[in-house]
Formats: sequence, C-alpha cells, structure tokens
Amino acid sequence: MTDKPEQGIAQGLTNYGDRDFALYLRRSFIKSMGYSGAMLQKPVVGIASSPSGFNNCHRSMPELVDAVKRGVLAAGGLPIDFPTISLGEVFLNPTSLMFRNLMSMDVEEMVRAQPMDSVVLIGGCDKTVPAQLMGAAAADLPAIQLVTGPMMTGRHRGERLGACTDCRRFWGSFRAGKIEQLEIDTIEGRLATTAGTCAVMGTASTMACIAEALGMSLPGTAAIPAVHADRLRAAEATGEAAVRLIGAPIRPSQVITQASVENALRVLLALGGSTNAIIHLTAIAGRLGIPVALERLNALSDTTPVLVNLKPTGDSYMEDFYAAGGMGALLRELRPLLHLDTISVTGETLRQRLDAERGAWVDHRIVRPFNDPVEPLGGLVALFGSLAPRGAILKRSAADKSLFEKEGRVVLFTSLEDLSARIDDPQLEVQPDDFLVLQNAGPTSGSGMPEAGYLPIPKKLAQAGVKDMVRISDARMSGTAFGTIVLHVTPESAAGGPLSLVRNGDRIRLSVQQRRIDLLVDDAELARRRLELPLRAPLAKRGYAKLYQEHVLQADGGCDFDFLTGPAKTDAGASQDQ
Ligand code: FES
Repeated sequence: MTDKPEQGIAQGLTNYGDRDFALYLRRSFIKSMGYSGAMLQKPVVGIASSPSGFNNCHRSMPELVDAVKRGVLAAGGLPIDFPTISLGEVFLNPTSLMFRNLMSMDVEEMVRAQPMDSVVLIGGCDKTVPAQLMGAAAADLPAIQLVTGPMMTGRHRGERLGACTDCRRFWGSFRAGKIEQLEIDTIEGRLATTAGTCAVMGTASTMACIAEALGMSLPGTAAIPAVHADRLRAAEATGEAAVRLIGAPIRPSQVITQASVENALRVLLALGGSTNAIIHLTAIAGRLGIPVALERLNALSDTTPVLVNLKPTGDSYMEDFYAAGGMGALLRELRPLLHLDTISVTGETLRQRLDAERGAWVDHRIVRPFNDPVEPLGGLVALFGSLAPRGAILKRSAADKSLFEKEGRVVLFTSLEDLSARIDDPQLEVQPDDFLVLQNAGPTSGSGMPEAGYLPIPKKLAQAGVKDMVRISDARMSGTAFGTIVLHVTPESAAGGPLSLVRNGDRIRLSVQQRRIDLLVDDAELARRRLELPLRAPLAKRGYAKLYQEHVLQADGGCDFDFLTGPAKTDAGASQDQ
C-alpha cells in the first residue's frame, strides 16, 4: 500500500496519526470520482485554474483546462484541476492589486497542501499571473505557467480597437466633448469583444511575456491570442511538459534566477511594457530572495532599446505581435544583451532555444531590428530625488518628451476623493504647465494603490486641447495608458514620505535626463510641515484588509507582504554568460 509514498496521490497525507489509514481513506474517497486503480498509480499534475464569472479575461478557462488535461494524459500523468481565487481587474474593490498577495497565498498553500508532483498554473488577467508565479516560486514544486492569451481587436467605423489603450483615448475624447454620448455607448460594446486579456501591451500581456522570458512558460506561447487554436495546442503541450518536469525535476528556484530576472527586465524594457510589471517582477523575484534594484533597472534601460511596436508605446496589438514572430522574434533581437545559460521549464537553455530558432521569420514592422528600434532607450526609467528617495517610475516610451526637463507649480489633490471632487471644477486654478500631484494613493493608504496615477487632464484644459501634463503620485497606472506620469513615489504619502509634505503652489523639478524628481522646498519648511502631519490611525480593523495594511511592503519591495519574501540571495549568475 505504501510502495510510492512520495509520488502521486499517495504523498502529503492527511494527518490522522495512522499513515496507512490516511492513504486507504484518500483512495476510497478519490475512487468516488470514478478513477481506476491504474490511474491512481500515475504521477499527478495539478492544474491551478482560476475561472470566475467576475473575470471576463478567463472566459476560456474551461477549454484550456481540458486541453492541459489531454496533454497530461497523453504523457502518462493524472491531471487533477483545482480552483483558486480569481482576480478580474475591473470587478474588484478597492483594487485587484490588494488581492494579488491573497491569491498568491492561495496558490502557494494549495500547491503545497494537495498531493501533486508538478503543477500547471493558468492565469491571464493582470494580477493573476504574478500571483501564480509568486505562489509557485514560494512552493517551489515543478511548475509551468500557461496564460489565457490576449483578446482579438474589434472594429469601430473602420478603425481597429482593443482594450484598453483605445478605451482611454475615446474616453479622453468624450471628456473633451469631441464625441457624443451615443458614440461612446457604441464604442463601449466594441472595445472588448472576445475572450482573453487586454489586446495591447498592458500589464497582462507584459506579464505573459515576462513569464516566458523568465523561462516559466513554454517557448513561443506568451502572445498566442486567446481564441486561436494554437492557444489550445499550447495548453496541450503545457500538460505534456508538466509530466516531463516531474522526471527532471526542474523547480521554479532553478528557473527564476538573478540572470533570468535580468532577462525579464530587458524584455520588459524592450516591450515598452507596463509599469506594474516592475512591482510584480520585484515580488516574484523577492519570493526567492532575488533583489530587483531600481538603479539596476536604469542601467539596463539605458542599454535596451524599445523594439516592439505595440500600443500604448506604438500602434499595433498583441495579435500582430504573435503573427510577427512573438517572443521568439524579440528574444533573438535582444540576444546580445541576454544571459543565455538560463533554463526554461523545458530544461533547454535560452542559447539552445535561440540557436534552434535562428533564421525564423520576423515581421520587422512589429518587432523592430535591434539597430532600427522604436525608441533607442528602454521604456521605463526610475527617478530618485528629494520627492522620491527610494524611487519613482516613469514610462518614458509612452510619454510626451517635451515635458521631460521641466519645473512646475503643484496643483495638489490630497486624496482620490479630493481628486474626483475637484478635477473638473471650472473654478480649479490650473494651467497647462502645472504639475498635478496626488497624495494618499499608495500601498498603505487604504485605497489599495489604485491605477489612479493617470490623473485626468482637468476638463477645462482638455476642452482647450491639452493632451498631456506632468502628473505625480504614489499610485500605479494601467499598463495601457499614455502620459508623462510619475508613479510609485516611494516612500508613499500615507507612510510619511516626502510626498505627504507637498503643498499646493510648491514647485517640483523633473529631469528625466538626470533621473531626478525634486521638491523645491527648503529643509526647515519641510521639517515644520512634518510636525503638522496628523497622527495616522489604523484604517482597517479586521480581516484581510488589516493583514494587508500591517504587512504590505512599499513599491520597491514589490508590495508583497513582509512575511512572504524569501531570504536574500547573492546576485550570482547575473553577470556571466552574455
Ligand atoms: Fe483583464 Fe485587462 S482587464 S487583462
């Protein structure tokens, strides 16, 4: 009865104080689901699935689970799927980020507690892939990430539309009075028209590409559209690979290393990817004790061109990226900058993958050659200075460069409520040259660090034709947004960072060239203001909100919980094998 105690259904027995009884009981109960004795002898591949009626991006989950199961069975394993919580970006209050750590704990604990030899993680919407990778890294069981894939584009009056860069563009036009209510109502039904994740290089697409760059997904799978038959073939292949992983065995801690994290950062920069990905990659790497320093991001950004011509940085969509050659094409262009001895879940090194793909077709209109990039420098840059001693992020590839070297007067909003109450007030004293500053939207503010850093242009300025202004906050921004927007100011305002000392009418200097963001107020005045700051009472009294508020780290810690990060590792492996 105890012939294979450490494999398949027989491992990790429920504790009744009698091991053989526990195994007998487990087999009795699982047989109620109709499994034969022969099937129960096989290694088990768990499938962490995350379907939900509150997650449109995961609409295709059932057929993906079926296809993964097909692959597992074909390779001689027993597939057993199980649910975890699901995070549908636009359905969660206050924000999906607040629940990312909860999902990661769900994934980690269910992978660890249930009997499985490897696991396939199926996610897609913004926070789900980071949560699954964080959980898998901590559990460190052989694991493969499969993403649901991006949506196809829709059409409106002959123009292609895709969530959600176009959502924001049309909403901006509506606010500026350039399109009517009837048209925006029509557009509402044409932005998100298929299963899958947002159709541009937003957070979900960026994280799908990062999962592949880390080596945690099968090569070539990140960009396959959700409704393409190749997506189901990728799911089947993922199931087969998950069985092979058991024999290897290759664990997340061998795949996610300092070197593969640097590869992922290069890819993020070359994609012009989402600012949110910095937070997520920091949290994923942090589970394995691997640091992601913003100073290092700057060094990589200065030597990594933007190569992928997708919205919001460029003008194409994920379906175009897939057709153009996808991640393989990008990695081949980036080859001179990558650590090539990193391994993926296939056991193959990146060098072996790229050698095998040498000469594959690329559409250079979408994935530009290394020496003819979309932008010569990486998409993201970290800023430091008296306003953000531990850093802030600017997506320079999706911003107005004429605003990069600039000093401005502060128009301050002290909270999200204040912002929404006053931003469109015709009496608001604001000029196009002013800097809009938002306080109290960071990790511990009680707002859950929303994607509110994309402060709307005040209506009266929008109607006058102003398209971009410098906007500064401790909030995040959707990966699909465009603008000169300084985000993740750390330490945040609610934690008493310098942002909390800003007052209406102050002046701030931004210099992207010098990587600086400075509050131009003298130290004595700042000290005086600090004494005036109100004492902060805890906002959450119970439950997960209390756990979150007491333990969430700042943006430079990936907004993970302080008790979930791994012991620090040295940076072995990041400076070799280029
Ligand atoms: Fe799910 Fe955009 S809403 S990926």
